[in-house]
Amino acid sequence: MQHKPVRVPDLKARKQRGEKIAMLTAYDATMARLLDRAGVDALLVGDSVGMVVLGYENTVRVTLDDILHHTRAVSRGAERALVVADMPFLTYQVSAADAVRNAGRLLQEGGAAAVKLEGGRPVVDVVTRLVEVGIPVMGHLGLQPQSVHQVGGFLRQATRREDADALLADARALEAAGAFAVVLEAVPSEVARAVTAALEIPTIGIGAGPDCDGQILVSSDMLGLFDAFVPPFVRQYAHLADTIVTATEAYVEDVRAGRYPKPAAPAATARMT
Ligand code: KIV
Repeated sequence: MQHKPVRVPDLKARKQRGEKIAMLTAYDATMARLLDRAGVDALLVGDSVGMVVLGYENTVRVTLDDILHHTRAVSRGAERALVVADMPFLTYQVSAADAVRNAGRLLQEGGAAAVKLEGGRPVVDVVTRLVEVGIPVMGHLGLQPQSVHQVGGFLRQATRREDADALLADARALEAAGAFAVVLEAVPSEVARAVTAALEIPTIGIGAGPDCDGQILVSSDMLGLFDAFVPPFVRQYAHLADTIVTATEAYVEDVRAGRYPKPAAPAATARMT
């Protein structure tokens, strides 16, 4: 496994060498440390924090302060993985100046190396400006959860020919604006394959089939920690929710039965008096 820190340009080099990129979300220092130790290439402090940590129904209510708080924690835990901070709803859509200020805080105060934002051609000017001032940008196309109210749910995208063409045009525009990678969420495999072939920058898929240059999952989904619902494309590599409930039941029983803590040994008690 590579031990030197992963930098933004390394991801494109990975694509050129045909090496897949493994990315996960992280929201706190402990999890970041563990995922980093396991060799993940990049950690996204996703606005999914709103759903899997903060208990919201969607990501719309997540604020810059929320992401900043969690980005600080993840940056403290990650040693090797590239830390990417999600830009929450309305932190980049109002103006490019606003976006620079907000993204700058995620790097300067949060310790992230890059930001991610949702959208294609409508956000290209913002991406251009961020890249101009030295802030690396990861794009996000396909299902864009911050638009959940407009779309009407967490629905699969680019299933019609004209939408797939529009997505490809968006991806090309993001690349031309200087984005260093693009997340493709919930799009058909053949659309993800075509976009991946058309771009020099890497595509990172989630529910977008096997042909992207890398994959990302919400760590709480992949680890079986968030069990309110499991997206159909998720593979659960562990069932931590069950493990936690079983362990906690055992603890509760031990406390109630007086088995935890153990009674002090008489000799130790004597020494203390
Ligand atoms: O917020 C998030 O976790 C994301 C990933 C699903 C890509 O944007």
